[in-house]
Amino acid sequence: MEPVPNDIADPSLADLGHRRIEWAARRMAVLSAIQMRFEKEQPLAGKRIAACMHVTSETANLMLTLRAGGAEVVLCASNPLSTQDDVAAALVDQGIPVYAVRGEDSETFYRHIDAILDTDPHIVFDDGADTTTVLHQERAEQPIVGALEETTTGVIRLKAMAADGVLRFPVVAVNDSATKHLFDNRHGTGQSSLDGIMRAANVLFAGRTVVVAGYGDCGWGIAERAKGLGAHVIVTEIDPVRAVSAAMNGHRVLSSLDAAREGDIFITATGNIHVFREEHFAVMKDGAIMANAGHFDVELNLSQLGDMAEAVRELRPNLQEYLMDDGRRLMVVAEGRLVNLGAAEGHPADVMDMSFSAQALSAEWLLQTHETLDNQVYVMPEELDNEVARLKLEAMGGGLEELTAEQVNYLASWNQGT
Ligand code: ADE
Repeated sequence: MEPVPNDIADPSLADLGHRRIEWAARRMAVLSAIQMRFEKEQPLAGKRIAACMHVTSETANLMLTLRAGGAEVVLCASNPLSTQDDVAAALVDQGIPVYAVRGEDSETFYRHIDAILDTDPHIVFDDGADTTTVLHQERAEQPIVGALEETTTGVIRLKAMAADGVLRFPVVAVNDSATKHLFDNRHGTGQSSLDGIMRAANVLFAGRTVVVAGYGDCGWGIAERAKGLGAHVIVTEIDPVRAVSAAMNGHRVLSSLDAAREGDIFITATGNIHVFREEHFAVMKDGAIMANAGHFDVELNLSQLGDMAEAVRELRPNLQEYLMDDGRRLMVVAEGRLVNLGAAEGHPADVMDMSFSAQALSAEWLLQTHETLDNQVYVMPEELDNEVARLKLEAMGGGLEELTAEQVNYLASWNQGT
């Protein structure tokens, strides 16, 4: 096979990468079924796809599925710390150009985005909307059929662009599909965020007070899993309905300043900036551990923490210690970047199976329908969402109930009482 263009850390890691991609594939039954159909039907034939996503073994399986469907695929990292260098090497070894090096600096990150856009893609797969933003700010003339967006933070940005009338192509908000956010955000983020904290700090959750900032799908998942491990969970929220929901799920709901005094472990999942800042750092306990599960590394105000600290050191891999002038030590996991991908391996393949099946079907749908779409944010049609769920249930060994004719009739009538 001809060598493909790339910028990766170490091609000699390919063998390990191949084995990890294979292991993930075994738990991605829905995506495998789509890959087999794509191989036969070639729905993406002749199309160029540029993906800016976390370079993981699960993403590798998505890239292979898109290529099986006839697309030419190129991949770069959507986060400087989430790249699995062995997976990047394995993809290059399989002929897919990859531009991603774990720990890359900001200049390299954007150079890599430029590299994938230089291939003149028909469709962009984005995770966090960075590539779509570059397509609007720096490449406003570049023609493009449309984009797919994987994450909540990216969708918020894109909806703001659509509302301002500046979005210049249709976007499918894959995040908003039920088979994505109800599972990936809840179960994926819930498990993998705690996994990241455990790998970095090796702390016991049982009996600890865990503060979860934000009770969207991600915060919900983190809080449930922490509770399941025996932690006392405190939730902070700005939305009264979500706050009551947290309270009725058995969590305490406090202001972030009150929570700051009580917490042993803090996890942000708000999508907002500076959730924990000077006033909170000033009252946190010695040894408090902070981690961020939101897409961007802005939720902990680390520049304020750095200014308040006398010294900072890497105590263990992915665990930074800030020594405060009163002797307290405040800990930060993975430099405040996405904890599940920075300090662990991201969501397990079992759940990415649904997210990436939704991605593959959304790409097919976008190509089929783009001429009829406006420059707006769309959600994949419900039938496709249901199809992903049906296949996942089947793969998990479950079976669906069907309505009887009498029940269909009953639901369709309005005059059958007791
Ligand atoms: N986002 C969260 N977990 C992920 C994973 N394993 N692969 C790609 N993107 C992810």
